[in-house]
Amino acid sequence: MTPQVTVGLLHPGRMGAAVGRQLSEAGSRILWCPVGRTAATAERAAEAGLEPVGDLADLAAFSDVLISLCPPAAAVEVAKAAVETGFDGIFVEANAVSPARIRHIAGLFTSGRVLDGCVIGPPPPKKSGTRLYLSGASREIDEIAGLFAGTAVEAFTIEGDVGQASALKMAYASYNKAVGALAAVSHALADAYGVGDHLLTEARRLARDQLSDPGYLPSVAARAWRWAPEMEEAAAAMAEVSLPNELAMGAAAVFERWNPDRDNFEIALPDVLDHLRTKDE
Ligand SMILES: NC(=O)c1ccc[n+]([C@@H]2O[C@H](COP(=O)([O-])OP(=O)(O)OC[C@H]3O[C@@H](n4cnc5c(N)ncnc54)[C@H](OP(=O)(O)O)[C@@H]3O)[C@@H](O)[C@H]2O)c1
Repeated sequence: MTPQVTVGLLHPGRMGAAVGRQLSEAGSRILWCPVGRTAATAERAAEAGLEPVGDLADLAAFSDVLISLCPPAAAVEVAKAAVETGFDGIFVEANAVSPARIRHIAGLFTSGRVLDGCVIGPPPPKKSGTRLYLSGASREIDEIAGLFAGTAVEAFTIEGDVGQASALKMAYASYNKAVGALAAVSHALADAYGVGDHLLTEARRLARDQLSDPGYLPSVAARAWRWAPEMEEAAAAMAEVSLPNELAMGAAAVFERWNPDRDNFEIALPDVLDHLRTKDE
């Protein structure tokens, strides 16, 4: 019989508690540390059936695996605290952090083995599905993926070193999160001018998911020379009603990078993407 694996969760937030419950139902023992956490976390942990331990040193000592799922801004602090315990198991850094940040975190560990992870999708179990992408050493990835076998969290390997899973998360989140801010400002702008219903009608009629359709981007680049000034007009309209217009100005700055591609509808997608990058003088 395979020995039971003990997983320490840092910490049982909305995602962590749900992931912990999945692992627990699949046979792992799941621990968490209440020190410094709020009553809301304690409630989530209890509801998910997770086992509390005395302090972080206990959590690290009893755990074969630590999974960090906390606010990304606390990821380094959480990893440092784990390092200070002398933890020597597998540390899965599963937060939405940059590739450079996870490489920094991996460098903090002198004894443990660090995997880069990212979660895409809602807390499990949801119909749309939750995916844990992992990059780093393949033996450790296999161990972690094995814990999730048969659960509502699908584990996927991303070829390459620590940093690759985080790169995917950054690429996905930079669109998926920013689009929420864009939609909110658009609705606020329309509301401020009393045209909210019409905006909704047009959005439902025409709006498209551009992230899943990169083939559309060459025609964006070709028209960007016209769209940059249009974004500046939108920014002015936002400023008139005291709304934040930095996203519109940011879009104008992105479009300006495609000025040399004006009306070139035949441009290849790799060139479209390459032209966004600052070139060395
Ligand atoms: N929720 C989602 O839909 C989702 C989807 C994909 C990926 N993720 C990723 O999952 C991670 C966690 O997200 P979440 O939604 O679970 O967040 P959350 O519900 O806000 O939970 C965060 C957990 O971290 C703890 N925490 C807060 N501040 C901390 C600090 N300074 N140091 C240590 N721990 C701290 C919180 O405890 P207290 O509040 O008790 O202090 C809580 O238990 C993030 O990296 C996020 O990008 C989440």
